[in-house]
Amino acid sequence: MAIRGEQPDHVLDPLHFAAVRRPLLQAESLPPWCYMSEAFYAREARAIFGRGWNFVGHADQLAGAGAYVTGVLAGVPFIVVRGADGIIRGFANTCRHRGALLMEGTGQASAIRCPYHSWTYDLTGRLRGAAGMEHTEGFSLAENGLVAFRAEVWAGLVFLCMDAQAEPLAAYLGDLPALLAPYAIDDMTLVRLKSWDLACNWKLYVENAMESYHVPTVHTKTIQRQARDINPPLFGQGQWCGLFTRHTGSRALEAGETGFPYIPSLQGDSAEGTHYILLYPTTMLALTFDCMWWLEVYPAGPLHCQVRSGACFPKAVRARSDFDTVVEKYYRRWDRSIVEDNDISEIQQRGLSSPFARAGRYSHLEPLVHSLANWVLDRMEIAP
Ligand code: FES
Ligand SMILES: [Fe+2]
Repeated sequence: MAIRGEQPDHVLDPLHFAAVRRPLLQAESLPPWCYMSEAFYAREARAIFGRGWNFVGHADQLAGAGAYVTGVLAGVPFIVVRGADGIIRGFANTCRHRGALLMEGTGQASAIRCPYHSWTYDLTGRLRGAAGMEHTEGFSLAENGLVAFRAEVWAGLVFLCMDAQAEPLAAYLGDLPALLAPYAIDDMTLVRLKSWDLACNWKLYVENAMESYHVPTVHTKTIQRQARDINPPLFGQGQWCGLFTRHTGSRALEAGETGFPYIPSLQGDSAEGTHYILLYPTTMLALTFDCMWWLEVYPAGPLHCQVRSGACFPKAVRARSDFDTVVEKYYRRWDRSIVEDNDISEIQQRGLSSPFARAGRYSHLEPLVHSLANWVLDRMEIAP
């Protein structure tokens, strides 16, 4: 007999998640409606994206005074801009007059000028000009600056936090910087950014990136040819988890290809394999012998997300005369495998949206899918 797995009335009731809370090999995945429900998404937006540290790009995108990037993170449009003082700041991308979006895309600006009635804010968020407001009683420029978010930078990676009470970025990262120190990320430079708008829930995309179970099926013609071994997942202090794979040859190339020299400071595990890190909720860093690449995911409603992928190489490698030629091998590998992951995530969403979809069981190859589900429930304060 078929039973329709429709969304319950109280989607946040802990009773729905008892099976998710069990150990991996006894557990079930999140119920399908966690990937579709507006109410579940609204709590995620507030409790996860509204309270934690969110990766929003690389400092190289903010190279000079007035350089800015914008985005929308779970319903919150933001601006990140470098001031004349060199400091990177984050703001709510909403005018203090009647709310218009102030900036879009990326670029360079000497001030932030609203496209609606020309209120103008400086790069520190102070309102500097509001022509036409002279007769408004009790109005002051000082009280109408932009809503500021916290912005911090670690190893060139820029993070934004909308919660004044949240722990500092260093505490959120915990021991991750120490683990990744051999890669000398500080000494790398951004070489490429791409983005895609996808019709899938943000969690599906992150789950896919953090399990290797799908590799032989989804990546048959591409990275499947890379030899793989299975290691226990990594858990440290801080809001992250990860996988370490021991192998030879850069993971950023297809099997048998040669590329750039290895990062000179590699040692220990970093000299013997690749780290795939999930800094919750959506920052996925891959660090291999010669470079780092990443995925940033911006939830855009329960059924959509934007994915941005960036890549960094050591500055000395970027300066090589053969860089532009050799790097094409890396781009080719990423362009093929990322699109395969994008496609399967959308295919999964379409099937999961069926009223007959159910929670599923996990393989031992999916420990971090289970970890993410439990982390999400923890952050949403859905008690075990
Ligand atoms: S909404 Fe920005 S100046 Fe009016
Ligand atoms: Fe994949």
